[in-house]
Amino acid sequence: MSAHHRQLSLQAAAALLIFSLAWPYYYLRAAAWDWALVAAAIGAAAFAAARLTRQPWWWQAIHLLFAPLLWAALQLQISPIWYLGMFMVLFLVFRGAASGQIPLYLSGASTAARLAALLPRQARVLDIGAGIGSLLLPLGRQRPDLHLNGIENAPLPWLAGWLRTRGKIKNWHWGDLWQHGLAPYQAVYCFLSPAPMAALWRKACQEMRPGSLFISKAFPVPGQVPESLAGPAGSPVDRLYIYRIPG
Ligand SMILES: C[S@@+](CC[C@H](N)C(=O)[O-])C[C@H]1O[C@@H](n2cnc3c(N)ncnc32)[C@H](O)[C@@H]1O
Repeated sequence: MSAHHRQLSLQAAAALLIFSLAWPYYYLRAAAWDWALVAAAIGAAAFAAARLTRQPWWWQAIHLLFAPLLWAALQLQISPIWYLGMFMVLFLVFRGAASGQIPLYLSGASTAARLAALLPRQARVLDIGAGIGSLLLPLGRQRPDLHLNGIENAPLPWLAGWLRTRGKIKNWHWGDLWQHGLAPYQAVYCFLSPAPMAALWRKACQEMRPGSLFISKAFPVPGQVPESLAGPAGSPVDRLYIYRIPG
């Protein structure tokens, strides 16, 4: 069961439990439902279930607050169009988080400088999940000899990246990283999440030439020892894990 489905089932089970207790209670007393209380009880039950099943702390907080916040939002009587609009904007920006547990956050200029120091001359480089080009743009300025490519599948970041990289990065692709062949690249860079790393490493090993570089920021490949590390030891999120594709 995926992480999304697990959390969804947990919240649904809590709601079902509270409704099955509340319904006979209010029915037998012929009383009107106290929806604020019901929402608070669902939050408490979901929180307890999340704690018992040892979910990460942020999921426990989400479970505690979800039903009460839903109730509070309904009290505001906001037109459903606003919710739809907000959902559309979030989907356009965070499509990767919805489909593959890969959210949008950006590498800074310091990461670009570290990469600039280690990439071979004239290498063909791909940033998979390229965001808005915040890695490729400074890298291109520091290393004009490199052939830089980016692929991004969330519509708004792709568009922002296309506007920012126009005339500077020739190959700014729209598409799914899983459908994009890695064979032409001497170096692949990624800053994604723990979720795709094992599958991505398998894809890289199948498609990239032996000796090519696979570099991941912040998220190591499970079960693989990197050839080297770069970046400050005290800041795991700024660490680069550098792997070489085996022969
Ligand atoms: C953490 S951001 C990294 C952005 C950029 N590489 C950087 O270092 O600044 C990860 C990006 O991967 C994108 N992404 C997630 N799943 C993807 C997929 N299947 N295909 C292409 N891009 C994807 C997300 O939309 C997001 O922009």
